[in-house]
Amino acid sequence: MEILSTAHSYLAYVVLAMLFIAVSNAVLGLVGKKIFTLEKDYRISLFTLILAHLQLVLGLLVFFTSTSGLKAIQELGMGGMNSAARLLAVEHPFINIIAIVLITIGWSRHKKFMEGAKKFKSIAIFYGIGLLLILSRIPWTQWFN
Ligand code: HEM
Repeated sequence: MEILSTAHSYLAYVVLAMLFIAVSNAVLGLVGKKIFTLEKDYRISLFTLILAHLQLVLGLLVFFTSTSGLKAIQELGMGGMNSAARLLAVEHPFINIIAIVLITIGWSRHKKFMEGAKKFKSIAIFYGIGLLLILSRIPWTQWFN
């Protein structure tokens, strides 16, 4: 459905911006030896996690309804897709699911620690790797068209 991919396309800006903010905030907190606060650090990390999960749900819905998702795999077969089609139908969904799993692990891990430095480190590393994975499989040309 058109509305799903439009929403997925716009939410992508917000998710990427929040991931960038959350990772920068965690790195600055770690390097600056700051206290991990509920008001700021916890909220930024949780809001980012929620947005990533919302984007995951939207992405799954797009995958199952759009012609460039599951239908492309069924019609063309794994070997019949060119690299652009494979990016949309296989690499982007697969890598982004892994990225969001890592972000979720980073969130859960940070809660187990008492020390601020360990909390910041968990967010910085797991959200950071998640962000890099997501950036590595964005269909840039299609997105900006
Ligand atoms: C944080 C994670 C994600 C981000 C930032 C993201 C971002 C994007 C962007 C920017 C596009 C291009 C939209 C356009 O052409 O205007 C796209 C397309 C797509 N995404 Fe995601 N995505 C994410 C996760 C997922 C996941 C987890 C899935 C599936 C399980 C998924 C499935 C798709 C599909 C199938 C398309 C092609 C849509 C179409 O052209 O019909 N995405 N995504």
